[in-house]
Amino acid sequence: MATKMDAYWMPFTANRQFKQSPRLLAKSSGMHYWTPEGREILDGVAGLWCVNAGHARPKIVQAIAEQAAEMDFAPPFQMAHPKAFELAEKLVEITPAGLSKVFYTNSGSESVETALKMAIAYHRVRGDGARTRLIGRERGYHGVNFGGISVGGIVSNRKMFGTLLAGVDHIRHTHDLARNAFSVGQPEHGAELADDLERLVTLHDASTIAAVIVEPVAGSTGVLLPPKGYLERLRAICDKHGILLIFDEVITGFGRTGQPFAAQTFGVTPDLMCVAKGITNGCVPMGAVFASAKIHDAFMNGPEHLIEFFHGYTYSAHPLACAAALATLETYADEGLLTRAAQLQGYFADALHSLKGLPNVIDIRNIGLVGGVELAPLPGEPAKRAFNVFLDCWDQGVLVRTTGDIVALSPPLIVEKPQIDRLVGTLAAAIKRCA
Ligand SMILES: Cc1ncc(COP(=O)(O)O)c(C=O)c1O
Repeated sequence: MATKMDAYWMPFTANRQFKQSPRLLAKSSGMHYWTPEGREILDGVAGLWCVNAGHARPKIVQAIAEQAAEMDFAPPFQMAHPKAFELAEKLVEITPAGLSKVFYTNSGSESVETALKMAIAYHRVRGDGARTRLIGRERGYHGVNFGGISVGGIVSNRKMFGTLLAGVDHIRHTHDLARNAFSVGQPEHGAELADDLERLVTLHDASTIAAVIVEPVAGSTGVLLPPKGYLERLRAICDKHGILLIFDEVITGFGRTGQPFAAQTFGVTPDLMCVAKGITNGCVPMGAVFASAKIHDAFMNGPEHLIEFFHGYTYSAHPLACAAALATLETYADEGLLTRAAQLQGYFADALHSLKGLPNVIDIRNIGLVGGVELAPLPGEPAKRAFNVFLDCWDQGVLVRTTGDIVALSPPLIVEKPQIDRLVGTLAAAIKRCA
């Protein structure tokens, strides 16, 4: 019987197109999905940048099942369960030095809201309560809640939703096709774009600015890498003015760029770091904010029986999520997955950059096991060419992702070289067919 499709209003989906020509997934294992009819699909995007260890990993499956049977839920306010502590200790073993406190959420969007609130409240508890302004970056993606879309810089995610948060401004994005097209790894040009923060300090005065939030590698907007020296410069400007630096590592966290976190890949440590997705290998919704001890400790004053930070979610530190995350970290460690992208990035880069010269390919970008291929838009029909490429790849049994006219690849970190060849080969054929 055909699935009835009227009731489900799908997120971030062309609902009418989808329901005319559905793309359903029914099963997953390792590097693959299968459709309900049994057609095999090679997963070129780790589900949605999250299934970093590949699908249906036995340790994780077992941990979730056992936890559901043992204890389904534990209230996280004024109560806790042992795995929440165990997981936090394990997580801070792999975070950049200094980020030693973990606050649990259930998604990337919630991690962003949490970090923004932490930043503003941190200044206030220190007696610097005028620092309320938040700075994002053009083309940034920080989830879909009001704080996240306010600091975010993707026009279509903002324009329908009114005036957003007050007191937010944006630095310029770093995409520069004229100077950096077809860079392998970090582009050479654009470190000076970090100085845009100085412009906003001049405009607003540092004493009003709480934090700057950026993705170390902007993912959802189409894989934009930080120019060499850019993040270092941003860090230095934040330090100079007492502004907190927040990295949104929801995509880059858990091995995507070749180190556990992009902060380590680029050698720049933020004050707060947002994660989600790969924390549980995508199996159970979970996110987290990592904070420096300096930030955490600033809250730990006042009468000891009073709550220090009025924030949290019913499902913060959910037992199923904690169990899944612990098993995920074990799987990552057993198989060296958090640094595997560094070993494969040369091969992946060569494969991806072999697409240069194909019709309409105007840029190729890569780091670790993430890549972006930018296409020239069809005249008058933005986003359509890449969408056609996506549909063509799907028909050929390969899942890629598109945003505007950019095709993104981010395979599970267990990917093997022949699978990289298949991914890129299928993409090449699709790009030619959609010329
Ligand atoms: C950098 C970044 N931040 C936040 C989010 C939002 O995460 P979620 O969809 O889990 O709310 C995403 C999702 O792709 C992301 O890439």
